[in-house]
Order: sequence, then C-alpha cells, then structure tokens
Amino acid sequence: MKAIVYTKYGPPEVLELKEVEKPTIKDNEVLIKVHAASLNAYDWHLLRADPFLVRLMGGGLLKPKNKILGADVAGRVEAVGRNAKQFQPGDEVFGDISGCGGGGFAEYVSVPENALGLKPASTTFEEAAAVPMAAVTALQGLRDKGKIQPGQKVLINGASGGVGTFAVQIAKSFGAEVTGVCSTRNLDMARSIGADQVIDYTQEDFTKSGQRYDLILAANGYHSISDYKRALSPKGIYVCTGGSMAQIFQSMLLGPWISMTGSKKMGNSMTRPNQKDLVFMKELLEAGKVVPVIDRRYPLSEVPEAFRYLEEGHAHGKVVITLEHNNK
Ligand SMILES: NC(=O)c1ccc[n+]([C@@H]2O[C@H](COP(=O)([O-])OP(=O)(O)OC[C@H]3O[C@@H](n4cnc5c(N)ncnc54)[C@H](OP(=O)(O)O)[C@@H]3O)[C@@H](O)[C@H]2O)c1
Repeated sequence: MKAIVYTKYGPPEVLELKEVEKPTIKDNEVLIKVHAASLNAYDWHLLRADPFLVRLMGGGLLKPKNKILGADVAGRVEAVGRNAKQFQPGDEVFGDISGCGGGGFAEYVSVPENALGLKPASTTFEEAAAVPMAAVTALQGLRDKGKIQPGQKVLINGASGGVGTFAVQIAKSFGAEVTGVCSTRNLDMARSIGADQVIDYTQEDFTKSGQRYDLILAANGYHSISDYKRALSPKGIYVCTGGSMAQIFQSMLLGPWISMTGSKKMGNSMTRPNQKDLVFMKELLEAGKVVPVIDRRYPLSEVPEAFRYLEEGHAHGKVVITLEHNNK
C-alpha cells in the first residue's frame, strides 16, 4: 500500500510517499481502508519533535517510533479481528487513532475497534475525517472543563481554526450566546457557523473592552492569563486547549492556583479521545447542529504541502487528505 513515511524528525521535506506492507490485524482490531484523513497541530508536533518533550512522551527519543503520522481518519472497515465485535466489513467509520500510534496517512490502517465510531451517514468521508481530534477537543473543553450552560456568554478565541470552528458550533448547540474572535477575513465565516457576535482581533482586544464572559475557550492566539481573568464574569471559567506555548503553560501552571484562591476557575484541557464523545459528535453532525468547515483538500502524495500550509497557522477550518483510491 502507499503511505507517507518519515524515519527522522524534521520539516515536511522528511516525509516520503512510499510503498509499504499493508498492516495485519490483531484480535481486537479492525483494518480500515482509509478514504480521508485530516491534519492537526498534533501531527506537526510529532513530525518536528517540537516541543522536545514529544520525544520523551513516547514519540521516540532519537527518531520517530511510529513511522506513519495521521491521527484523524475516516474509511471503510475491510477486515475484522477475531475478538472485534462492534463493526462488520463494509461499515463506514471515523476516529482519532492518536492513542494507538496513528497511521492515517496511508491507504490502510489497523486500529483497536474502540478507537472508532460509525461515520454519520449524512457526512462525506472528508467531513468525517475533519471531526475527531478537533471537535472532541472543543467538546471536552466546553462541556467537561467549561461546564457550559444554556444562555451563558461564551467567547471562543481562535474561532476560525480547526478547533475553533467546532467550538463555535458546539457551544451554540448547548444554547450559549457565542462570541468568536478571529481576524478580518474570517469574520463572515465565523458568523456563518453561528457566532452571535464576532470580534476582529486585528482591530480590538476583547480583554480590554470591559465585556465579561461566563466561559472563555482559548483555542488559539495569545493573551496573558491575567488578561483572560479580567474578561471573565465573577464565577467565570477559562479553559485553554491551545495557542502559544506561553498561553498553554500559564494555564497549566498558574490556572490551578488562581482557581484555588478565587471564584474564577482557570485551567487547561488535554483531549482524551474516546468512543462516547465520537458518538456524541456523530449525533450533532446527524442533527445538522455541527457542519465541519474544510479549508483545503490535498491528495496523499501532497501531505508535505498540506503540512506546510497548516504550519503557517492561518487555516480556516480543517485541512483534509483525500485518498486516491476514493476516486477510483
Ligand atoms: N488540548 C489538546 O489536547 C489539543 C488538541 C488539538 C489541538 N490543540 C491545540 O489547539 C491549537 C489550535 O488548533 P487548531 O487545529 O484550531 O489550529 P489551526 O487550525 O492551525 O488554527 C489556525 C487558526 O488560528 C487563527 N489564529 C491565529 N492567530 C490567532 C490569534 N492571535 N487570535 C485568534 N486566532 C488566531 C487563525 O486565524 P487567522 O488566519 O485569521 O489569524 C486560523 O484560522 C493548537 O495550538 C493545537 O496544538 C490542542
């Protein structure tokens, strides 16, 4: 089968399109014919071993442990292991397979069945592949850490990116009044996916406007944690899921202390992929409450180009890889 392989850490140039062995399946696994995959910042952290911590956290100290990147996939089940009971050959599935070594940038991948959910019938493979990591990050940040409630004023910083476009729509589905922060060229898109108000970060600093929010999800960008604190209502919650390293570390290190010493809660949310949340997203997709925003599509051979684009940091929505056998 064809796959995008890397044997050393580095820029997108280290990625090569190669012919490799089709994977076999273990008893609890299913073999998926991949129809689409999507890129996440997670993938380029593993590509470049940036930050260095990636090497110590199982990525591989000197060289990558897993040679094929790709966490988000959608495809058709081709074969089922002896103990895998949830899926049948022919089923259309999607999932975040980062917890089982990735491998989505390939024609086939074998994964434990509990990393997958049935693809919503109403979505294409490309749309389904756009969902798992980014949407579950937004969902867990808003619902689990953020304790989102109907009628709350919720602000999404970085509303136009992979995580942010899902966060706006998920927050709306919970009945919140949503403000999306993005740059000028993405204001219309943020409105079109449901943001009630939009703030252009090139024109206005929302942390200085005097407006207060019950919940702030920081999907991207940078503000100091004290700026975010000022923009929270007295019992407001701030959840950081991404953005600059300084933003992430402040939320991890200072957030728990601020939360212990006052009425505002501040902290970080690390995504935990799981089947229940995939099913939750499937229902939102089927109900039409969430529609994935796809910025660009690339064929498998152009994964390096897709990485270059994502790394520029200005994707609006998701960057998707379409597998060539999809078109045959
Ligand atoms: N916590 C977790 O487990 C987890 C899981 C997934 C992702 N993440 C992290 O989440 C972050 C975002 O991921 P993503 O997939 O959404 O990234 P992305 O799609 O690459 O984000 C790009 C978007 O961010 C916007 N942006 C850039 N600078 C901004 C700023 N200063 N203020 C507001 N928006 C800004 C860009 O808009 P403009 O072009 O208009 O500037 C663009 O639309 C990454 O840091 C990633 O590592 C964390």
